[in-house]
Amino acid sequence: MGLTAAIFVYAQSLLGALVGSRWALHQCFGGSQLCDVMYTHIFGLVPPTVATLAVVLISWRTPALHPALRRLANMSGVLLVLQLVLGVATFRLHLQVEPLTVSHQAVGAALLGSLVAFTVLALRDWAENREIEAKI
Ligand code: HEM
Repeated sequence: MGLTAAIFVYAQSLLGALVGSRWALHQCFGGSQLCDVMYTHIFGLVPPTVATLAVVLISWRTPALHPALRRLANMSGVLLVLQLVLGVATFRLHLQVEPLTVSHQAVGAALLGSLVAFTVLALRDWAENREIEAKI
């Protein structure tokens, strides 16, 4: 599930890069151009949001989870909420508040990083412990 969430966040970030690099927000508000790019990024929030929340909920429901994995899952949840708030603020304020726009990009990268770290550690944890499970 961590890998799925990371892939969805990566795809959503690429869409965000398309919005930023093609100036889609202003083109859409100004001349109704590139609105499809802008709206794909907005509605594209659904898959990464569902997948990241699934990571958080599953980690809450797994009692024997490694503390580092639990911390990374919770961190991903907090970064996701922050990212959505920053995205909406960037959109509604029409990119006028630069720190918000830059933070939206930085928090997107941090969210991707936390999910990649979760996936790598979860795989290592699984590889190290699968013998214990096999013996039980
Ligand atoms: C999980 C959710 C999201 C992720 C991972 C994400 C990621 C990103 C990233 C990485 C960028 C910057 C690309 C770049 O400048 O190279 C970006 C740009 C942008 N995002 Fe998002 N985003 C998310 C949700 C949203 C939402 C919900 C909105 C608005 C309702 C939004 C609005 C925007 C806008 C307007 C830009 C363009 C900023 C500019 O032109 O510089 N994003 N997004």
